Amino acid sequence: MTDKIRLTRPSLGAPELERVAQVLQSGMLVQGPMVAAFESAVANRVSVQYAVAVNTGTTAIHLALLVAGVGPGDEVIVPDFCFPSVANAVLFTGATPVLADVDPSNFNLNVDTVHRAYTERTAAILAVHQFGIPCDAPRLAETFSVQVIEDTACALGAMDTGGPCGGQTGLGCISFHPRKIITTGEGGMITLNDPESRDRLRWLRNHGMERVEATLHFAGVGHPARMSDIHGAIGIAQMGRLDDIIRTRAERAAWYREQFTDSKVVVDSEHIWHPGRVYQSLVVMLQDTIDRDAVVAELRSSGIEVTVGTWSIHQQKALATHCRFDAAELSGSIRCGRSSLTLPLHSDMTYADVCRAADALEKAGLRYV
Ligand SMILES: Cc1ncc(COP(=O)(O)O)c(C=O)c1O
Repeated sequence: MTDKIRLTRPSLGAPELERVAQVLQSGMLVQGPMVAAFESAVANRVSVQYAVAVNTGTTAIHLALLVAGVGPGDEVIVPDFCFPSVANAVLFTGATPVLADVDPSNFNLNVDTVHRAYTERTAAILAVHQFGIPCDAPRLAETFSVQVIEDTACALGAMDTGGPCGGQTGLGCISFHPRKIITTGEGGMITLNDPESRDRLRWLRNHGMERVEATLHFAGVGHPARMSDIHGAIGIAQMGRLDDIIRTRAERAAWYREQFTDSKVVVDSEHIWHPGRVYQSLVVMLQDTIDRDAVVAELRSSGIEVTVGTWSIHQQKALATHCRFDAAELSGSIRCGRSSLTLPLHSDMTYADVCRAADALEKAGLRYV
């Protein structure tokens, strides 16, 4: 029996264990020094003034929308082809998610697709750097006169046209879920430059509690959304690995690219191999005529853990009823929802693993046309 090839696997080890042990020995499990140090390391990497850690990436988007002033009656443009929690984050504010189409060659929003979803009620745009591919957030921010929030959930370390993803529009959100570039188990962070928003985020994540000189008071309606120091400790150790993770994943992606040179199954797109991207996930499009779900099932049964790219939000009925969209405008997202496939990719994969996964994909794809 050949070994299973896992879809992903976080890089964790002695540095994370040592940092966590320090927290446990200190007895200071929340609001100790680890979260603050992790925030500084991320802010520095993203080239912003501040970062505020929270408990998940979805919470980071929710609270970023609140400090951007989004609320009931507003609309927020989100890509239809995306992890659906982005629509939940908009709904938590009382605003309406408006689902915009994506370009299947890079899975991202662009000026044209945003333009088609834009109305006088649009209060913000969630510019997702999908799977680590930069979405040209600076161009969106230049074109539309509302707050562009960068969803950098998958793109810590990636470079957009103007610099690091998450630092281009004044407000960005990161996730540290185990499928992301670095992980804290669960976790999120807001990256920003405005000190007033930073202060508001600090009480928003902490039940509304704010310290003024020696006293604590309640500044407003807050959330149970802090990151613990245990998670912060893992994050500091992970930041020490970030460059190595980016490099080893890119190396493995290049091996896949080499295998796909004459592929009749994988659609060739230069954008997938964007030089500034990070490989949070390697998602490819299969030719239209291929039955993607049959390919996924076959590869999984042979021990190669592949999955769909992500979901078309408007096809998730329970969520779609709360969103505004015109399905006729979402052909790019519908294609991605039908034909995208995530390949196994992580730093422990060998060249032989990549060849085996690529070869199995080619064979299965040709069988299920
Ligand atoms: C683009 C994007 N944004 C936000 C999130 C939410 O992150 P979390 O799972 O940390 O809440 C995800 C999670 O997969 C995501 O892919």
